[in-house]
Amino acid sequence: MRTEVGTDIEKAKHLLDNALIVAIPTETVYGLAANGRNSEAIAKIYSAKKRPLSNPLILHYKDAQSAFDDVLNVPENAKILATRFWPGPLTMLLEKKAIVPDEVTAGKPRVAIRVPAHETCHGLLKLLSYPIAAPSANLYGRISPTSADHVKEQLNNRISYILDGGNCSKGIESTIIGFEKDKILVYRLGSTTLEEITKATKTNVEMVKGSSQLEKTPETSGMVKHHYAPNTPMFSLDDLNKLDDLSNCGFIGFDSINSNFNTAHQFILSNNGDLDNAASELYRSFHVMDAREFERLYIEWLPEKGIGRAINDRIKRAIQKTKT
Ligand code: TXA
Ligand code: MG
Repeated sequence: MRTEVGTDIEKAKHLLDNALIVAIPTETVYGLAANGRNSEAIAKIYSAKKRPLSNPLILHYKDAQSAFDDVLNVPENAKILATRFWPGPLTMLLEKKAIVPDEVTAGKPRVAIRVPAHETCHGLLKLLSYPIAAPSANLYGRISPTSADHVKEQLNNRISYILDGGNCSKGIESTIIGFEKDKILVYRLGSTTLEEITKATKTNVEMVKGSSQLEKTPETSGMVKHHYAPNTPMFSLDDLNKLDDLSNCGFIGFDSINSNFNTAHQFILSNNGDLDNAASELYRSFHVMDAREFERLYIEWLPEKGIGRAINDRIKRAIQKTKT
């Protein structure tokens, strides 16, 4: 199958209406979309991505009303967060109604819902009579794509159309949360920060740690340690030994050049030290530096605050793959 890249929303709608899959832009990363009400269409996502069937998908809606219409009850904090952050990079796990196919949730009782903030994506959702089921548009276990080119690198000839919406402005996946009586549980760090969620809800926000049990049967794939990884072995600067030969190594830095490495071998995420900017460049830096086929890649940790937490989480996973 030939993969075409274009900006034709009507064409994307036509393919989706005919139970086919299409890559679509969102503000976080590109998604691999199917009609979220059609089990046959959803099955195509799993085979194109080579994704295990046990790993559920996020449903994307045009607005909060249609998202909440698909779940049994909406906690007060969910309403507050929807008003504050939707459209935007926040995904909520809530008990699904029967209308949501079991294939979307991999048989789980909760469905992941979000309203994306990307003009092209929103334009498409408004044309459709159903929500879009979509995981990130990468092959399973690989780096999430933040441009149409990145999608094409991984899914060329596996899908027929990539709807090009430019570079993703956020660059890191959505934050995934669930609700308990007195607290909000965070299943995956992402582009909406813990600080923002706490401020909006005045509720305790708790990270769900990858306990040994969860690692065996992770609740979300974001909990699998070795995820989001380039092929080149990647290390943190902490692993750098004085005697290492770095002549054929690359470096991904936050805001400044590192004198241990050849200047031409470096990718600086944000020259002015802006975390949002760094987030939007992170996966691109993985793609670009991976393609240069260095012997090893080194990367430094970013400040552990705001979206820096989600960036460090993805760096940790990229490094874990090297270690295991
Ligand atoms: O920003 C994003 O969230 C992007 C864009 C395309 O929306 N999507 C994305 O999807 O990152 P994906 O499938 O790559 O990651 C979603 C995570 C997976 O780890 C999946 O296991 C988890 O959400 N998830 C989805 N539905 C779930 C459910 N019902 N219960 C538990 N985890 C769920
Ligand atoms: Mg993914």
